[in-house]
Amino acid sequence: MPHIGRTVPSSVLIDWHVWLGVTILLAAIIRLIWRLTHREPEPEAGIPPWQTTTARITHWLLYGLLFALPIFGWMNASWRGMSVTFFGAFGLPKLLETRLPGWGWTGDMHAIIADYVLLQLVGLHVAAVLYHYLVRRNAVLQRMLPSGLLEDR
Ligand code: HEM
Ligand code: HEM
Repeated sequence: MPHIGRTVPSSVLIDWHVWLGVTILLAAIIRLIWRLTHREPEPEAGIPPWQTTTARITHWLLYGLLFALPIFGWMNASWRGMSVTFFGAFGLPKLLETRLPGWGWTGDMHAIIADYVLLQLVGLHVAAVLYHYLVRRNAVLQRMLPSGLLEDR
């Protein structure tokens, strides 16, 4: 997302930010439906309970952010009077009236969550995966991948 202010004209970069953000929201909806209709796999054998609990908390926080973040972005785009579409194919409803007094904070919330919460959690999440793959050498990474990939490790 480029710098955005009251007078910034629409641009290709802004359009792509919105389109990819809406794609992430749609993917999160599909994945959450999958998660709620399928049993969670048992944890890998030999993983201490504190790690299983930490992983579960991190995963649910990630799920929460995958909804909260695009929705705050969508609210702020509506507040700024920008039209929100999915690759121009169809439009999404306006969540807030343009410049509705008292709702400008939705943009700050979107930026704070993206910059200071989501990135840190993804860093922790990927560090944990690398720890399991490189140090513990168990199958935590492989079981998340399509079967066959990295199988011979
Ligand atoms: C998971 C998906 C998304 C991520 C990771 C994301 C990330 C970001 C980031 C990093 C910024 C710049 C923050 C800063 O100034 O430091 C931003 C700004 C913004 N994004 Fe998103 N975004 C997402 C989805 C969306 C969606 C779906 C929309 C609209 C439908 C949107 C609309 C905006 C707007 C309007 C701003 C400017 C906010 C402001 O500065 O007041 N974003 N986004
Ligand atoms: C290099 C990037 C990434 C790798 C290698 C990776 C790897 C993994 C692995 C191995 C698991 C399964 C853990 C288990 O079986 O207990 C997992 C689960 C998960 N990951 Fe990632 N991940 C990555 C990036 C991300 C990102 C960017 C997000 C979201 C912003 C994310 C969200 C999640 C969630 C929500 C789960 C739980 C899935 C569920 O139980 O339904 N991951 N990831």
